[in-house]
Amino acid sequence: MNDPKVIVALDFDTRQQVDQLVEKLNPSECRLKVGKQLFTHEGPALVKHLVASGFDVFLDLKFHDIPNTVAKACIAAADLGVWMVNVHASGGQKMMSHTREALDAHGASKVKLIAVTVLTSMDQMQLDDVVGGISIEQQVLKLAVLSKQSGLDGVVCSAQEAQMLRHQLPNDFQLVTPGIRPAGSSADDQTRIVTPEDAINYGVDYMVVGRPITKANDPVSALRTINEQIAATR
Ligand code: C5P
Repeated sequence: MNDPKVIVALDFDTRQQVDQLVEKLNPSECRLKVGKQLFTHEGPALVKHLVASGFDVFLDLKFHDIPNTVAKACIAAADLGVWMVNVHASGGQKMMSHTREALDAHGASKVKLIAVTVLTSMDQMQLDDVVGGISIEQQVLKLAVLSKQSGLDGVVCSAQEAQMLRHQLPNDFQLVTPGIRPAGSSADDQTRIVTPEDAINYGVDYMVVGRPITKANDPVSALRTINEQIAATR
């Protein structure tokens, strides 16, 4: 597989749990996501180890700070060899464009820089508390357009948002979507889930999949089933 669409979310606390899963996985069949939980426990050494094992790593630390600090943090991520890193679009145009330019100047133009728009855990009431006068959908679109204008490669978004954004933004603007559940699998704590087939039809480029793979009795066959469903849809 040239461009695996599944990014396995390594939502673990320890290196041992990661190793147990990752030793069964093949970099040609999936990418890996390291988020705040695992990174805070295990740090850059684990990221370097995963990269050295041949995996594309999405470092999901959602940076949000002054432009200089975010740019330096993303350069540090690039130096670990990560494939993708993300920031909060609400940090603004300067923060995003300065970070993209800093990565390019550092020789890291291949590192994908994507943005989080509105956290999917936010409802309208919570968004009103923070900004007010704008619907979630409008705010997502506004921040996605700002991300594109700032030179970013894409956004993290829900499947529903992906459908809307795919029509409003160019095809090469990448949509990375969690909340994916193969038909018949447990929703866990996700409220709005879509199948891998629907995600592809909605224009999603990469799917973040955690528990349907990490908690499966046979994670490799769970991943392969998802990959087959994706291949049959494309
Ligand atoms: O186990 P599951 O497939 O639900 O994991 C989804 C992953 O995507 C988790 O790492 C979760 O933190 C992340 N995520 C999400 N919803 C968002 C953003 C990220 O589920 N809106």
